Amino acid sequence: MTAPPLAVEMRGIVKRFGDLTANHQVDFALRPGEIHALLGENGAGKSTLMRILYGLYQADAGEIRVDGRPAAIHSPRAAIAHGIGMVTQHFALALPLSVTENIILGTRDRFHLDLVAAQARVLQASLQFGMRVQPDALVKTLSVGERQRVEILKALYRRARVLILDEPTAVLAPQETEQLCESLQRLRSQGLSVIFISHKLHEVMQIADRVTVLRGGKVVGAVETAATTQTELARLMVGREMFGVSKPALPATGQPLLRLDGVSAIDAKGLPALHEVSLTLHAGEILGLAGVSGNGQKELAQVVEGTRPTTAGRVHMAGRDITQAGPRAFMAAGIGRIPEDRHESVVAEMTVAENMALEHLHEFTRGGMLDKKRIRQHAEGLIQAYQIKARPGDRIRTLSGGNMQKVILARVLERHPALIVAAQPTRGLDVGATDYVRQKLVEQRQRGAAILLISEDLDEILALADRIAVIYEGQIRGILPANAAHPERLGLLMSGVEA
Ligand SMILES: Nc1ncnc2c1ncn2[C@@H]1O[C@H](COP(=O)(O)OP(=O)(O)O)[C@@H](O)[C@H]1O
Ligand SMILES: [Mg+2]
Repeated sequence: MTAPPLAVEMRGIVKRFGDLTANHQVDFALRPGEIHALLGENGAGKSTLMRILYGLYQADAGEIRVDGRPAAIHSPRAAIAHGIGMVTQHFALALPLSVTENIILGTRDRFHLDLVAAQARVLQASLQFGMRVQPDALVKTLSVGERQRVEILKALYRRARVLILDEPTAVLAPQETEQLCESLQRLRSQGLSVIFISHKLHEVMQIADRVTVLRGGKVVGAVETAATTQTELARLMVGREMFGVSKPALPATGQPLLRLDGVSAIDAKGLPALHEVSLTLHAGEILGLAGVSGNGQKELAQVVEGTRPTTAGRVHMAGRDITQAGPRAFMAAGIGRIPEDRHESVVAEMTVAENMALEHLHEFTRGGMLDKKRIRQHAEGLIQAYQIKARPGDRIRTLSGGNMQKVILARVLERHPALIVAAQPTRGLDVGATDYVRQKLVEQRQRGAAILLISEDLDEILALADRIAVIYEGQIRGILPANAAHPERLGLLMSGVEA
C-alpha cells in the first residue's frame, strides 16, 4: 500500500527581498489530516513562506506540489482553486456588512444573491465545521475572536482543504485560544490539514501533530511533537540553550511605596470595574496581578498609571496623596508604565528617536526649537544599551513587536522610575524578546523598584512575582506570597470560587 500523497509539498523555496534572503532553500511537507505548526522567532521567514503558498508572493526559486501534482500558484485566487485558504494577521473583513455577506463576497453566489438562502448555507457550514458564527450579525459588532472565526469560515466555505493560520492566537484571550484549538481538532477529524504559525512553544506542543522550525529563513528541524520537548524546540528555534530568568532572592522587602485604599473605578463603558481595591506595593518587590482577562486588570493598571480617574478611595505614593492628580503628576511621582497596547503608546508615523523623546520633549528643546541632533544622540545611546535592532530615523511602525517593546522599555527605564506598571509586557513577543523583557524587570527589582506585573500568563507571574494578588470581578480576592501560590489555588481564586 502506498501512502497518500502529501497535501502540500514545498521544495527548495527561495525568496529574496533586496539583499535579504527571507527563505533559503526551504522544504516543507504537509500531510493530509494533520495540524502542522510552523515555528520560529520573529523574522524567521514564516509568513513569507506561507504568503508564497497562498500566492501573495512569488518565490525566486523552488516548486510547490498540491496533492502530489505540481501547482503554479500566482495569486490567492489560484491558491483557493487548489483548495488552499489563509487567514492573515490582519483581517480583511468589510465591517459594515454582515457575516453572511462577508463570507459569500467574491464567490459566485453574489450574482444571485438570495440573502435568506445564503444565510442558511453559512449556518450549515458553521455547523459542519464547528465554527460558531451568527450569520446575520454585522461584523463591526463582533469580537476579535468572532471575526477570526468568520475569516476561517470564509476560507472553508470556498472549499479549502488546507487552512493556513498566521499567528491566530496572538490576538486571542486564553479562553478563545482554547476554543480555536477545539475547532482545529474538529477540522482535522474531517480530514483537513492546518498550518499553524506560532512562536509559542507550549501552544505548538499542545495543538500540533508535527512542527517545522525556521531560523533565519532556513529549516532547522521538522519533528513530530510527540517525539520532542519544549526545550528541544526552543533550542532549535533560537540556536542556543536558553530560558528561564533567574530571580535572585532579596534580603527583605523594602519600604511601602504605593498604597491603594478602597479604590473604585468605572470602565470605558461607565460600568463598575474596580470595587474597593486595597493594595500596597513595596520597593524591591514584584507584585503579580493574576486574573482571567476582563476582570478589572486593565482599569487597575490605568488607575496606578494615573490615566483613569477613581470614583472612591485614595492613592498614595511614597506617603503623598496623589488621588486624581492626573498622569503627569503620577509620572513626576516616579511611576513609569509599560502599557498593555504597545501600538497605542507609540506614535506609529514618528521615528524611533522621536518616540524615545516624546514624553520629555521639553528636555530636547533649545530656544523654543527641537534639538534634532540631541534627540538622535539620545536615541543612539538607548539603541545600543537595549540592543534594539533599529536606526534612530526608522519609523517606529516598521519595528517588530520585540524591538518596539524594547523602545518602550528604554523610554521608561532610563527615567529610573520608583515604580513600574508592566501590563502584559511580553504578550505577542517571541521567546528571545520575552526573556529579555523579563530579565529587565528582574533587574529593576534588584535596583529597588516596585513592579506591578499584570499578566494573563500565569506561568509568567509564577516565574517573576514575589507576591501574587488575584483579581476577580474588580475585587482583590486574595494576596499570597509566591511560594504559597499553587496554580490550583490561584485558579480557584481567579474563578471566584474561593474567597
Ligand atoms: N514585503 C517585504 N519586503 C521586505 N522585506 C520583507 C517583506 N516581508 C518580509 N520581509 C522580511 O523578511 C524577513 C522574514 O519576515 P517574515 O516572513 O515576516 O518573518 P516571520 O513571519 O517569521 O516573523 C524579515 O526580515 C522581514 O523583515
Ligand atoms: Mg509573521
